[in-house]
Amino acid sequence: MCGIVGYIGHRPCINIIFDGLKKLEYRGYDSAGIAVLHQGEILVSKESGKIDNLKPSIAKLPQDARVGIGHTRWATHGLPTKENAHPHEAEHLTLIHNGIIENYKELKQELLNKGIKFRSETDTEVVAHLVAEELKVTPKPIAALQNVIKRLEGAFSLAFIVDRIPDEIFVAKQGSPLVVGLGQGETFFGSDITAFVNFTQKAVFLQDGDIAQISAEGLKLWDKNGNTLPTKITHVQWSPGSADKQGFKHYMLKEIHEQPRVVSATTQAFVKGNSLDLAALGLEKIDFKKIKTLHIVACGTAYYAGMTAKYFIEPLLGISVNVELASEFRYRDPFLMPDGQTMVMAISQSGETADTLACVKHAKDKGCQIFSICNVNYSSIVRESDSALMMLAGPEIGVASTKAFTSQVLCAYLWTLGVAQKLGRISQDELSSIITELKTLPLYLDQALNAEEYIVDLASKLYAYPNFLFIGRGMSSIIALEGALKLKEISYIHAEGYAAGELKHGPIALVDKQIPIVAILPHDHYFEKTLSNVEEICAREGQVYGLGDEKDARLKEICVQVIPCPQMKNPVFQAILSTVGVQFLAYHIAVKRGTDVDQPRNLAKSVTVE
Ligand code: G6P
Repeated sequence: MCGIVGYIGHRPCINIIFDGLKKLEYRGYDSAGIAVLHQGEILVSKESGKIDNLKPSIAKLPQDARVGIGHTRWATHGLPTKENAHPHEAEHLTLIHNGIIENYKELKQELLNKGIKFRSETDTEVVAHLVAEELKVTPKPIAALQNVIKRLEGAFSLAFIVDRIPDEIFVAKQGSPLVVGLGQGETFFGSDITAFVNFTQKAVFLQDGDIAQISAEGLKLWDKNGNTLPTKITHVQWSPGSADKQGFKHYMLKEIHEQPRVVSATTQAFVKGNSLDLAALGLEKIDFKKIKTLHIVACGTAYYAGMTAKYFIEPLLGISVNVELASEFRYRDPFLMPDGQTMVMAISQSGETADTLACVKHAKDKGCQIFSICNVNYSSIVRESDSALMMLAGPEIGVASTKAFTSQVLCAYLWTLGVAQKLGRISQDELSSIITELKTLPLYLDQALNAEEYIVDLASKLYAYPNFLFIGRGMSSIIALEGALKLKEISYIHAEGYAAGELKHGPIALVDKQIPIVAILPHDHYFEKTLSNVEEICAREGQVYGLGDEKDARLKEICVQVIPCPQMKNPVFQAILSTVGVQFLAYHIAVKRGTDVDQPRNLAKSVTVE
């Protein structure tokens, strides 16, 4: 959680850092701060609340400063107050930090015993004082940093500036992401590349244990034992502007609209003619013959992508699949078979979610094969995996995941088809017909997007209801869960998702005129069964909004309104189309309620704490 940014170079840095923080606002947004180094003095501006709150105070900083660091916070230790906002000062240095220092209490006690005064309740200020103390005996900042890091337990990426050193910034990474961007006579760093991708696409991804000295000319790198390391430059593919709103009111809306493009890019990357590119799908490093059990671990929306995947992996691969919340799996001592007989598939947009990462590490220690589906290359989960399938969703900034879900489901499906192809479990004819239909999915997604105006209208009728129910069968039962999650996250309305067949075992007791029920009703082999469940609801005066084929006479007759959704034969593609409907509904209800859609309260996009 939290985002960090820094700049050193020939340009005034304040706006560059401010813009970088705005790009990282998805990581946390309850307080923010910027520190600049100017003529031997460090000047700090920080505020509670959104990053924009910084505007008046950064206007008072020296505008020609060319060295600075910035931080946007998602509170873990201490309330989101101005005092607890980063950067934190200690004697001659100022420091920012993303992550958690688990042993900060004992370190703080040691510093308190020495008479050091603290201005905040954060674990970060402890690190700032430790470095300041170390600098008294070890004046070289890199050596001081090395000594301090040896004492820190937990996950962190951190950066600091020292008032007497005008042309260097010092950074370290352990467990939390940090990437340096190399420009011409200027160097950037950030928690991810969106912080600087508009300036440079040359990036150096720091590894755990790395310590670096950053100057306008680039960086010098050391490992945790003080050995110098070569810098490995990656030319990142995200283009400038790909993290901007591009005219949409919110990132979430832009990202919903990007789904046809994400599907096209994914198809282009993994489909070759009428077949699949097995190497691009990450199949080559996995020994499938060994695998007896498959666990999928993930959190939030990625977990629902995993639950959707179970519906196609089991029949296509003939293997039983357990899908589990990473926060449960990591602590429950799951039964894992050694020597690669168990495969763990981690699904994560960010590749940094702490619980999912912990599952991957645990499973790796137990001898499982690890495969991951992630959107962020070089992320921690990707690096820990034996093989990874990189999603092509592009940066997702809205906290509520949309295009990443579509991408995760599609990537998991193509991967499964690839395995089936490799194991001879699917005929070329079947594969060709799926690929032919896949190539039309972007067109159908465009049609699903066309339903937006209709959903805006519906949202204006429904937005004041305090409770919602979403139901469906088969993969639609998972889309119901995802629809309820989306609505909760961004509109703060209580919503539940249920398998329609389960209604009569409890939730039907909730049904009355006051709870809108969204039934996901595609023309699949569950249609008749779900329709019977809808009839049971109507018999109890429930009001049902059916997401399905607007031309279906039975739907029109039984539902208060049909929310139009185009229909495809393939159930996975249909699930993706239905998702667009529930995403729009949540989005437009939230807009009507006036909530902060891209940065809903209490949430963060990348949850790097347990
Ligand atoms: C947070 C986000 C969700 C996301 C989940 C998992 O809770 O708010 O949108 O689905 O983390 O994130 P991941 O990056 O692992 O997919």
